[in-house]
Amino acid sequence: MKIDDKSCSDLGKKYKEKYFESIKNPEKFWKEIALSRLDWEKVPTEFYSGNLVNGDAKWFADGRLNVSYNCIDRHVLAGLGGRVAYYYESDSGLRQVITYNDLLENVSRLANVLKSQNIKKGDTVCIYMPSIPEAIYSMLACTRIGAIHSVVFAGFSLESLKKRIDDAECNAIITVDSFFRGGKEIILFERIKSVLDECQSLKKILISPRSTDFMSVDERVINLAKAMVEVSNVCAPEWMFGEDPLFILYTSGSTGSPKGVLHTTAGYLLYVTYTHEQSFDLRSNDIYWSASDIGWITGHSYLVYGPLSNGTTSILFDGVPSHPSPSRVWDMIDRYKVSIYYSTPTIIRSLQRAGDEFLKSSKRESLRILGSVGEPINPEAWRWLDDRIGNNKCIIVDTWWQTETGGHALLPLPGVVKTKPGAAMLPFYGVEPVIVNLKGKVISSPYVPGSLLLKGAWPGHLRGLYKDRDRFINNYLIPYPGYFYTGDSAYIDEDGHIWVNGRIDDVLNIAGRLIGTAELESSIVSHPCATEAAAVAGPDEVKGSCIHVFVLLRNGTLSSSRLTDELKSCVAGCIGSFAKPDYIHIVESLPKTRSGKIMRRILRKIVHDEVDDFGDISTLSNSESVSQLTEYWDVFRNG
Ligand code: WTA
Repeated sequence: MKIDDKSCSDLGKKYKEKYFESIKNPEKFWKEIALSRLDWEKVPTEFYSGNLVNGDAKWFADGRLNVSYNCIDRHVLAGLGGRVAYYYESDSGLRQVITYNDLLENVSRLANVLKSQNIKKGDTVCIYMPSIPEAIYSMLACTRIGAIHSVVFAGFSLESLKKRIDDAECNAIITVDSFFRGGKEIILFERIKSVLDECQSLKKILISPRSTDFMSVDERVINLAKAMVEVSNVCAPEWMFGEDPLFILYTSGSTGSPKGVLHTTAGYLLYVTYTHEQSFDLRSNDIYWSASDIGWITGHSYLVYGPLSNGTTSILFDGVPSHPSPSRVWDMIDRYKVSIYYSTPTIIRSLQRAGDEFLKSSKRESLRILGSVGEPINPEAWRWLDDRIGNNKCIIVDTWWQTETGGHALLPLPGVVKTKPGAAMLPFYGVEPVIVNLKGKVISSPYVPGSLLLKGAWPGHLRGLYKDRDRFINNYLIPYPGYFYTGDSAYIDEDGHIWVNGRIDDVLNIAGRLIGTAELESSIVSHPCATEAAAVAGPDEVKGSCIHVFVLLRNGTLSSSRLTDELKSCVAGCIGSFAKPDYIHIVESLPKTRSGKIMRRILRKIVHDEVDDFGDISTLSNSESVSQLTEYWDVFRNG
C-alpha cells in the first residue's frame, strides 16, 4: 500500500518506518510490545504462528496471563489502587466514583459468586445489562475465573437474547431487574425469568437489583447484590493460555442468524491495550470518555479492556446524550475535564442538529482528542466537531474497524498525517488493507471504489465464529482467497489514503449498529399478513442511514397504518426497538431475477432517489415491477 511522503511529518516518517517493520517482521514487532505492555504469569516462548487468511493464526499460545489481573491487580500492586477507573454517571444523574481498589473488590466478589454457583473455567456466561458498573464487574469477573462472556446489548428483545443464549449454550445469565433509558424505566424482572424455562443450557440467572429488592423464591434466581456481600473479597485469578477463548460477541451477518465472533485472551488484550494507547496518544493524566455501550465491540475494546489495561480514568455513562438536554454531554466534558472524547457520527449529528445554543453552557477546553467510530462521518459533522466542539484545537481520529478486527484497523494516528474530513486514511501497525474490483484485481487508481480486504498480522483479530468453523471460512476467507473479507466498500485518493464508503453486503448500518437484512425481513414475514419483504438502507440526515422495507401482502389483505405499525412491532419484538424500520412500503411486486432473488440494488436506487438509471436489468423476470415501484415512489415522495 502506498503511503504518501508529502503529507508526512516527522511523526509520519516514524510511523511509516514502524509500519513497514510491523509488516516485514510481525513476530518481532508484537513480541516487544507484548513483553512491555502486558504482565504474564508465564512469559510466552511461542509468539506467532499461522495466518488470519488461513484461519489458523495463533498468538502467544504458550504464554499464561489473566485479563482481569492485567486490567486491575497490576495497577493496584503498582500503588495506583486509589486512581479512579470510572466516573459513573447514570441516565438520571446519579454519580459514583469507582477506583481501581473498588474494581478489585467488586470483581473478586462477583467472581466468587460465579464460582459458588458452580460456574467454571470454559463455561459461557451471558451478560444482558446496560452500561452500568455491575456490567463491567461481570465481564471482568468472567475473565478472572476463565469463563467466556457473551454480552448481549440490553436493547435487544428477549427473543434475540434467547437466540444468543442458545447459540453460545450459556450456563448462566447476569442481568438487571430494570433500567432507565432517556428518563424511561424499563422493567425486566418478570419477563426475564422466562429465559430460564426456555433456554435449555441455562442453569442460573443472577439479577443485579436496580429498583426492587426482590426475594428469590426459585433457587435458580440469585440476587447478585446480596450474594456479593456473602462471599470473600479475595479471588485468585485463573491463569489462562494466550489462545484460550475470552469472549463471544454477536454481530449481524448478511444471511441467517447473527455470527458469534470469538476473541481469545492474549492477542485481543494486547491489541486493544496498544491501539487504545497509540490511537488516542494516551497520557497518564487523561480523562477519557467512550460513548459506546458495553453491548457492542467498542464498549468491549475501548470502554472496558483497552482503557483498564492502560490504567486509564474513564467516564461511564448509561444515558442518552441528549437527555435531559443536548448540552448534557458538553457540560459533562467540562465537569470531568474530559480530554479524549470517543463518539459516533450519529451522536455528533444529533447534537449538531439540536443547535449551537446548547454549546453555550460549556467551554470544552480540556478536550485534546476527538474520536469517531461506527459509520462514515460526513465532512459537515466532522467540521462541526472540529470547529465548534474542539475549538479547532483538537485532533480528530476517525477509526475504522469491526467486531472482527478486535480493535482499530484504519485511522490517522495523532500527528502522523494531516487529517481529511471523512477519511479513515491509514492502516494501524500489522494491518494490510487492499481494495479490489469484482474480479479480485487490486485497484490502484484513485477514486475507484472496490471491496475492502485485509491481510497482515495483528494479534487482535477474531479467531473464528463460536463453534462454526465452516461459516467463518465461508463468510470471511472464501470470497477472496488470501484475504480477509470485510464486507465494506472503500476507495483511495491520490495520496493513497483510504476512504470507507460503508457496507456492500446485505448488512444495514443504522446509526453505527449493524442489522442483517435477512433477520429483519424474516421478522416482518412472521406477521401473518406479510408474505415477502426486502429491506434496504436509505439516506438519513442524523442516523446516516434509515431502514426502508418493501413488503408484499397476502392476497386480499388491505394496507393500513395499523398494519404497518404491527409490522414495525414484529421487528421490535424479534430483534429490538433500535431495529424498527423507519418506512414500510406496501407494494404490488418486488423486482426479482429469473432465479427468484430480489434485486435489492433496484430498491436501493429507488430510496436514494436515483430512478433515472437502474443499470443492467436484463436478468429480471418481472421488469414491469421497476416502473410500478418508481411510480409508487413518486407518489410516496410527493406526499
Ligand atoms: C462500519 C464497529 C466508516 C463499517 C467498530 C464496518 C465504519 C462496521 C467506521 C463494523 C468508520 C465502523 N468509517 N465505517 N470509521 N467504523 N464502520 O462490527 O461498515 O459493529 O464494517 O464494529 O461499521 O461494525 P461493528
